[in-house]
Amino acid sequence: MLSYDYENALKVGEISLEDINKVDFANAYSNLMEKLDNGVVGFRDVIYDENLDKYKSLNGYENVVVIGMGGSILGTMAIYYAISPFNNNAYFIDNSDPEKTLSILKKVDLNESIIYIISKSGNTLETLVNYYLIKKRIEKLNSFKGKLVFITNGGKLKREAEKNNYDIFSIPENVPGRFSVFTAVGLAPLYSLGVDISKILEGAREMDKICQNEDILKNPALLNGVIHYLYDKRGKDISVIMSYVESLKYFGDWYKQLIGESLGKNKHGITPLLSIGAKDQHSLLQLYMDGKKDKIITFMVAKKYRLDEEIEFEDINDEKISCRYSDIIRSQQKATEIALTNNGVPNVRITLDEINEMAMGALLYMYEMQVGFMGELYNINAYNQPAVEEEKKICWRLIKQ
Ligand code: PA5
Repeated sequence: MLSYDYENALKVGEISLEDINKVDFANAYSNLMEKLDNGVVGFRDVIYDENLDKYKSLNGYENVVVIGMGGSILGTMAIYYAISPFNNNAYFIDNSDPEKTLSILKKVDLNESIIYIISKSGNTLETLVNYYLIKKRIEKLNSFKGKLVFITNGGKLKREAEKNNYDIFSIPENVPGRFSVFTAVGLAPLYSLGVDISKILEGAREMDKICQNEDILKNPALLNGVIHYLYDKRGKDISVIMSYVESLKYFGDWYKQLIGESLGKNKHGITPLLSIGAKDQHSLLQLYMDGKKDKIITFMVAKKYRLDEEIEFEDINDEKISCRYSDIIRSQQKATEIALTNNGVPNVRITLDEINEMAMGALLYMYEMQVGFMGELYNINAYNQPAVEEEKKICWRLIKQ
C-alpha cells in the first residue's frame, strides 16, 4: 500500500533518534488510544462499519453533484481525483464563488444527477445557499428525475430534508468534519462516483493495524507526527507536501485542512503547504532550498504510474537515451530530495505502491492518526475549530444586515 522513509529527516543533522526517543510519545499514544477506545472521538470506529449496503440505492446517475464545505467535501475530492483523475461526471460545489457555482449549474443536467447536500451542522451558509440555488432550479422543472440526498445531523438543512422527504444519512457526532471522509460524508458520494469504497475502508483498516504499533519506528503516523513536532520546536513550522503524482493535488487540500484546522490552536500550529513536482521545481524549489530554513518537506511518490510508456530522446549532446517516461519524474524527485538534503532541508517520503482505493484509504487514515497523536503531543483539542465557528457567526450577522 504505502511505505514511509524518514532517513533524510535525521541525515540533515538537526534531530536524532535520541531526540525522538526523548519525546513523551508513549503518553501521546496512550491518550489517543484511550480517546478512540472510549468513543471520545470516533474516526477509528467508522472504518470498521461493514454495512455498506445502505449506499446501494445511490447508483446509476449520469452526474454526481456534491455540495459541501471543508471537511464535508475535501476528503471526497481527495479520493475521487486521485482514483479517477480523468473522469468528469463529478461536480464539486465547494465554495460560494458565483462564477464557479453558477457555471457548474449551467452545465449540469439536474434530471440526470444525484445531488448530495453535505453539512454536519446543517447550518453552514455556503452549503445552505448553494442548496437553495439547486432547489430553485428543481422547482422550475416540470418533474425532477434526479435525486437529492442529505448528509447532515441537524440545523436548517435537516429540517429541509425532513419536510421534503429526501434521503438523509447522518454522521456520528464524535467524528469531526475533517475526520469524516470514512463516514457517509465521503463514502456515499464516492460510491455514486463508482469508487470501490470497501477497498478504501480495507486500506484504512490495514493502516489502523500498523498505527496500533507502540514501537515508534514501526508506526509511521506516530513517527511522522513526532518528527514534525520536533522540527516545529526547532523553528521549522511549515510542512510542505510535495507530490510527484499530480492526481494527489486534492489530497493536498485535504491535508491542509486537517493540519491547519486541527493543530492551529493556542498559539500552536504547523502551516501546511502544497507543491506539485516536477512543476514547482521551476518555482518554489528556490525558496525551499535557498530561502528561510523554516520548512520540512514530505515527498509523495508512486512506485507505479497507471499510465506509462517507453520513450527515446536525445540529450543536449545528441546522445540517445531510452527509458520509461516515469523515469523522468522519478529522477526529478530523487534529484530534488538529494539537493534539499545537501542543503540541510529536512524531508520525509511517502511512497504509494500505486494510486488506488486501498492506498488512498491507508494514506488518509495515516494522517488522521498522525494528527490525533500530534494533538496529544501539543496537549490541544485537535477536534474542534473555535476560530472557524467564530467567523461563521460573524458572517451570518453581516449577511442579515
Ligand atoms: O472540519 C470541520 O469541522 C469544518 O471544516 C467543517 O467540515 C466545515 O466548516 C463545514 O461544516 P458543516 O459540515 O457543518 O457544514
